Amino acid sequence: MSDSQSAAKSAETSEAQIASHWKEEGYYRPPVTFIAQANLADPEIDDRFAEANFPRCFEEYAELLSWYERWHTVLDTSDPPFWKWFVGGKLNASYNCVDRHLAKYKNKAAIIFVPEPEDEEPVAMTYQELYARVNEFAALLRDFAGLKAGDRVTIHMPMVAELPITMLACARLGVIHSVVFGGFSGEACGLRAADSGSRVLIYMDGYHRSGKLIDHKASAEIAVDVAEKEGQKIDKVLVWKRYPEKYTSATPMKEGRDFFVDEVLEKYRRARVAPVPMDAEAPLFLMYTSGTTGKPKGCQHRTGGYLAYAAATSKFIQDIHPEDVYWCMADIGWITGHSYIVYGPLAVAATAVIYEGTPTFPDAGRPWRIAERLDVNIFHTSPTAIRMLRKAGADEPAKYRYRFKHMTTVGEPIEPEVWKWYYEVVGKGQAVIVDTWWQTETGGFLCSTKPALDPMKPGSAGPGMPGIYPVILDEKGEVMSAGTGKAGNMCIRNPWPGIMQTIWGDRDRFTRQYYAKYCKDKSSKRWQDWPYFAGDGAVHAADGYFRILGRVDDVINVAGHRLGTKELESACLTVPEVAEAAVVPVADDVKGRVPEIYVSLKPGYAPTKEITDSIVGTIELMIGKIARPRKVHIVPDMPKTRSGKIMRRVLAAISNTLDTGDISTLANPDVVEQIRQAVQGKEKVATKEGPEDLKLFGKEE
Ligand code: WTA
Repeated sequence: MSDSQSAAKSAETSEAQIASHWKEEGYYRPPVTFIAQANLADPEIDDRFAEANFPRCFEEYAELLSWYERWHTVLDTSDPPFWKWFVGGKLNASYNCVDRHLAKYKNKAAIIFVPEPEDEEPVAMTYQELYARVNEFAALLRDFAGLKAGDRVTIHMPMVAELPITMLACARLGVIHSVVFGGFSGEACGLRAADSGSRVLIYMDGYHRSGKLIDHKASAEIAVDVAEKEGQKIDKVLVWKRYPEKYTSATPMKEGRDFFVDEVLEKYRRARVAPVPMDAEAPLFLMYTSGTTGKPKGCQHRTGGYLAYAAATSKFIQDIHPEDVYWCMADIGWITGHSYIVYGPLAVAATAVIYEGTPTFPDAGRPWRIAERLDVNIFHTSPTAIRMLRKAGADEPAKYRYRFKHMTTVGEPIEPEVWKWYYEVVGKGQAVIVDTWWQTETGGFLCSTKPALDPMKPGSAGPGMPGIYPVILDEKGEVMSAGTGKAGNMCIRNPWPGIMQTIWGDRDRFTRQYYAKYCKDKSSKRWQDWPYFAGDGAVHAADGYFRILGRVDDVINVAGHRLGTKELESACLTVPEVAEAAVVPVADDVKGRVPEIYVSLKPGYAPTKEITDSIVGTIELMIGKIARPRKVHIVPDMPKTRSGKIMRRVLAAISNTLDTGDISTLANPDVVEQIRQAVQGKEKVATKEGPEDLKLFGKEE
């Protein structure tokens, strides 16, 4: 079938059945100049990774790494769904990302750090320099902080070169790092430190963000207190300095607990630490993410499978060659930064750019100036950043002489118009785009086009990656075949090397959250009986491409950052006047979705601005500024079922001016109209049109 035929065919089926605002898009072809140089240009990859060759096909990925000992078993399924990959193999992630490149690339930039203030020059660090610094810091962690393989360390740092140095030093020793996004509050960091059982915290004193020098060490004080309240003693806080010559924080250093890294490092100058050979299954790191209950969960990633998957997808899908200059604008404090700034790119000897600040500081030309100056040719960012840059300076990219061969979008669904701006204006019509769908839990990309092989389709992530067999299941677990145009639950039929091992300290929750829904036989040892439930709604087009709609659970994707509605609600409930709280996602032009909050007050309290401010303040304090709600509505009562459950779907419909659907079964249907008028005013008319994830939100309650 030709491209236009297949596009037309899916248009017929989809137009009728899915939201009318969506139309099937046409294809874009990868440029020939890209194909000519691509790491993955051999169409036989699909045969090699076909189901008949699973799981052996993934040996090709593992072979990209250097191993001390080769594995004896590719995939062990004896304890489902706790899959084990490359069992018997031994390797070290730090060795793979640093040492092994020295022979060929010691003099090449590994990391180029770009400070936010434009009058500070970018700083390039060669692989040799990275090697020296990782070794020295590993020596400090081992001999000064007393850390050893299997211990956990919590790292709360901004986007600076010292962050990957810290992570790689941990990996060198087999210490499990847990990096908490720098923009999260001290409270959020403390809770995560306690959950992971970290007795050492690693900080930086301050950093630049949107033109301000942020006092970051201040949050360490809160983190230590919160961790200790949770029963986790913190013995040491190691503090990197943003500027070696001065301490930029106003927060005092606590004698005997806080130590400046640069001062302690003096003792470890010229130290070398042999990388510790780790089992392929040894945990490499934890990454906390929001789920359907209040408590964030520590996604535990393994060393061998994870690194193999991150390295292979960096090489084949990001198309990174050692000669390229690769810039991913994500934060290292999220999984994208772990897999596609640090581990994947460095494993394939990339030159990776790390930018400290906001993309629009001081103006919307900043990313393009950075790209021009450093001659970046691979660019990786999120739809939110693209929307923001387009809004702030739609014509800016044309003013700069950079040339991208490849661009990535990740983290949220991208609207076709935004995709086209990215393609035509940012990419100047010369770059291939990959829309990569994946999650914290999955370690690396699950759906994407193969950049030199598959045509692009705006708004669709593409087919399953090599060796990934996605399927859309309905509520009963029946397969929804491609081309029906109906939305269902995105699942992956098989395990893959990048999948997380478990939730730190909570095996049951891991099984429950990702596998319970569709596993029909819990005693089965066959992977075929354990489809992975991703928590996203999706549509499978006739051409095999997946269009991801968004979360079907209680997670709100704000600017590509995952926030749990329950986390926000628990924060609201700590405000003394608040009796009940419900958080719903609202469509936003730039950030995709933002939270809106509904609260009812305890008897005897009247709504005031102070209460609203205190709710917003509490959320910022307990979670961070990224969770700041757009609005707080104080309502007389929550819409509830007869059994007393809050109907979030009704509130979401009101916030988004959507049809509230059937409310006749509620215990208090009258309150719906009261709330609607208070939020929308008397006249507003609800529409049936709107993003599908918002229509799905709360449906399962
Ligand atoms: C969403 C980020 C549409 C999705 C890597 C997923 C996407 C959640 C895409 C995971 C994409 C990620 N298109 N939606 N290309 N990529 N998502 O764990 O809802 O921070 O479940 O991982 O982001 O977010 P997380």
